[in-house]
Amino acid sequence: MTVQVAERDAREIAAIMPIMESAFHPEYGEAWTAAQCLSLLATPGTSLITAEMGGVVTGFALTRWVFDEEELLMIGVAPEFQRMGIAGNLAARIIARAKASNRKRIFLEVRSNNPARHFYLQLGFADCGVRKAYYRGSNGNRFDATTMALDL
Ligand SMILES: CC(C)(COP(=O)(O)OP(=O)(O)OC[C@H]1O[C@@H](n2cnc3c(N)ncnc32)[C@H](O)[C@@H]1OP(=O)(O)O)[C@@H](O)C(=O)NCCC(=O)NCCS
Repeated sequence: MTVQVAERDAREIAAIMPIMESAFHPEYGEAWTAAQCLSLLATPGTSLITAEMGGVVTGFALTRWVFDEEELLMIGVAPEFQRMGIAGNLAARIIARAKASNRKRIFLEVRSNNPARHFYLQLGFADCGVRKAYYRGSNGNRFDATTMALDL
């Protein structure tokens, strides 16, 4: 089935919340609330991109740009649709848009033990630093973050 990727506005937040709740493991406390998403999208330079299959929202990404840098804040795909190239489609849109806007790089931070790191590495992102104990999980545990960047 074809994946349709499109830029959306805050009206689409309700459609991404089930993915937010199912894709992000509660142990790590990484999922955002609808209010946090809404507040982000009220800020200039931010965007929500969704992936749909057959009219169903299966994945999303939230981004922000500052000067010549795009930041990939969050990307998630519904568990039953993972490993089908959906996040790859979302990333391709973000990279193409960043290049067309003359951004110099795409930056992100990710929990160091998140398998999503493999996803970023295969896109060409390289590690650029570690933030020790950056994330606090739901049980109080701390997790390192790795910062990664893709030069455009
Ligand atoms: C990370 C995530 C967005 C990837 O979405 P996806 O649609 O499954 O990714 P794709 O199908 O486009 O993957 C493309 C390639 O990335 C790599 N990859 C993706 N997920 C991977 C995983 N869990 N482990 C290892 N490699 C992975 C593989 O090379 C994959 O190609 P392959 O399936 O042919 O082996 C998804 O696993 C997810 O939603 N995770 C939970 C939320 C999260 O942690 N997001 C990142 C932090 S914001």
